[in-house]
Amino acid sequence: MEALEKNTNPRAGDETAHPARDYRNRQVGGAEVSEPAPVFSHLPVMLPECIDALNVRPDGIYVDGTAGGGGHSSAIAERLTGGRLISIDRDSEAIEACRQRLMPFGERVTLVHDNYRNLECILGELGIGKIDGALFDLGVSSHQIDTEERGFSYIRPDAPLDMRMSREDRLTAYDVVNGYAEEELRRIIFEYGEEKFAARIAARIVKTREASPIKTTGELSELVKSVIPAASVERGSHPAKRTFQAIRIEVNGELDGIEPAIRAACGALSPGGRIAVLTFHSLEDRIVKRVFAELAKGCVCPPDFPVCVCGRKPEIKLLNKKPIVAGEKELSLNPRAKSAKLRAAEKLPNTL
Ligand SMILES: C[S@@+](CC[C@H](N)C(=O)[O-])C[C@H]1O[C@@H](n2cnc3c(N)ncnc32)[C@H](O)[C@@H]1O
Repeated sequence: MEALEKNTNPRAGDETAHPARDYRNRQVGGAEVSEPAPVFSHLPVMLPECIDALNVRPDGIYVDGTAGGGGHSSAIAERLTGGRLISIDRDSEAIEACRQRLMPFGERVTLVHDNYRNLECILGELGIGKIDGALFDLGVSSHQIDTEERGFSYIRPDAPLDMRMSREDRLTAYDVVNGYAEEELRRIIFEYGEEKFAARIAARIVKTREASPIKTTGELSELVKSVIPAASVERGSHPAKRTFQAIRIEVNGELDGIEPAIRAACGALSPGGRIAVLTFHSLEDRIVKRVFAELAKGCVCPPDFPVCVCGRKPEIKLLNKKPIVAGEKELSLNPRAKSAKLRAAEKLPNTL
């Protein structure tokens, strides 16, 4: 198995040299893997549905843009004989976990430590022109949430406010909570967290940090809890859940990379190739739905033009009008699947 490391995230700490070409080829396997892989717990969501949607060909080239613990990746790799799988993740712990889990597939799998928004570049660097399928399983993994010191969890107190998926990135939850203007905090918490008490929460954050910075997840969680009326909290939910989700989305720029990744994947698909995107948030799903609709429509002429002058043809056909959701059985085993929506499309022949 080959592994490529690069750091091209615009939020990355070392922004001095756009190290997009700074690949470190690392031989993996055998004695060279010195440190043990972290235990990585994540149940892949809607696994059979994703694999069906991809319609994996044994000799095809596939991309898993969000490798995580390698659950979806290994199901794809198992179906390959002569084909190849490129598994990408921005989190080095995920790459380490995949290195172990996908080792049995040997040269069939290439691991890439990068942001999927750079997909076009990644494929170019690997010398891959066309692919047969791409999967994106958006958001955070259970492993990231459950690893206390990474600061994603509103339940575990006293972890530093971090929330970076990629530890090479510079912006942390501490910077957002202690540095953003009240209005910006309000907007983020309202839009990304769909939190109706966003204004109150933002005001309390600003007031609290005037005395001293908010340093831990526990402090932030208690602060949010103190301003939300108990009666307004959804049953079974935590008052800080929406605020933490919003800050996490901002820290990781989670919505920014979706459109470029889908466009790059669709651009690289061979005719008949498939793309499948699993979302967990209405804003993510809205982006996927819109970009798929645009690519399926083709023509970009203003609606009042009597005839098409752009000449663009549909690039993909949608495989499902409505998103596929998890079945009862999966929901009973994996609560994370509750908000999951799967959209898939197939590349059409003879596009622009
Ligand atoms: C829901 S988990 C994927 C789980 C995986 N499908 C599995 O079966 O284990 C999402 C993963 O995507 C990664 N991720 C999120 N945004 C990313 C991005 N823009 N580029 C690359 N990886 C990303 C996260 O670090 C996380 O490991």
